[in-house]
Amino acid sequence: MATDFTEETAADAVVESFAPSTDPRLREILASLVRHLHSFAREVELTIGEWEQAIDFLTRTGQKCDDKRQEFILLSDVLGLSMLTETITNRKYGIATESTVLGPFHVVESPVRQLGDTLYPAGTPAPCVVTGRVTSTDGTPLPHATLDVWQANDEGFYDVQQAGVQEIGNGRGLFTADNAGEFWFRTIVPRYYPIPTDGPVGELLKATGRHSFRPAHIHFIVTAPGHRDLTTHMFVAGSEYIESDTVFAVKKSLVVDFKEVSDADQAAKWDMPVPFRHAHFEIVMQPEG
Ligand code: BEZ
Ligand code: FE
Repeated sequence: MATDFTEETAADAVVESFAPSTDPRLREILASLVRHLHSFAREVELTIGEWEQAIDFLTRTGQKCDDKRQEFILLSDVLGLSMLTETITNRKYGIATESTVLGPFHVVESPVRQLGDTLYPAGTPAPCVVTGRVTSTDGTPLPHATLDVWQANDEGFYDVQQAGVQEIGNGRGLFTADNAGEFWFRTIVPRYYPIPTDGPVGELLKATGRHSFRPAHIHFIVTAPGHRDLTTHMFVAGSEYIESDTVFAVKKSLVVDFKEVSDADQAAKWDMPVPFRHAHFEIVMQPEG
């Protein structure tokens, strides 16, 4: 005889409904999801009205997505789920550089650039040199590692957000480290910026009294043969919102000083105006396996 679907038996009934032939990992994920969802609904005593509101919110989140906008990932970002998944998937190994979220602005190919190239037209405010080195966890330099770099400008805008104002490719570069794993390029100090708030995620931030800002950062995807790809950021020390990133992506080990340099010899060495800022990023890659 069929058992009644009650508050106590509901989760078991759904979990048991999955066919025994269900892929074991899919079964594990769905069973846990159902149990947590049911226990959440019981805990908050979810009403039909609230459930309808949630369905409407999720529907509009989907409707906001297109090939350039991913509102579901943004929702995952502000709920801390992206960063949690990232942290679980790329657990910190010893001294390897920590990873962080990819974000939605890696949408065009970065132009191939030579070491020393500049990411913005000459004269853009806040000139800065970024230097660094890519090594393995045992300290061996990784020659010819590739570094895909992208960043917002000194007003907090990526090139793709300012069609007609900025050239596509501003703030982006695909670099190859030299024989010693070293890299350097010229750019500007990025500014903090808001994530997109003109959709359901913006409504959620407003309804919960949260700001929408990310602290200033430069994105990197680093690859080297025999090593795990690394998606990370270099955060600007002292940036506004460094303690309250709206997507929870700051890790202390990724915060770097962008030191002001007023020395004329240093400026000549890097072909920079006086003063300029200098940031150095040591990148340690985790061997595969
Ligand atoms: C970004 O850093 O580009 C970013 C990350 C998550 C959400 C929005 C923007
Ligand atoms: Fe970003």
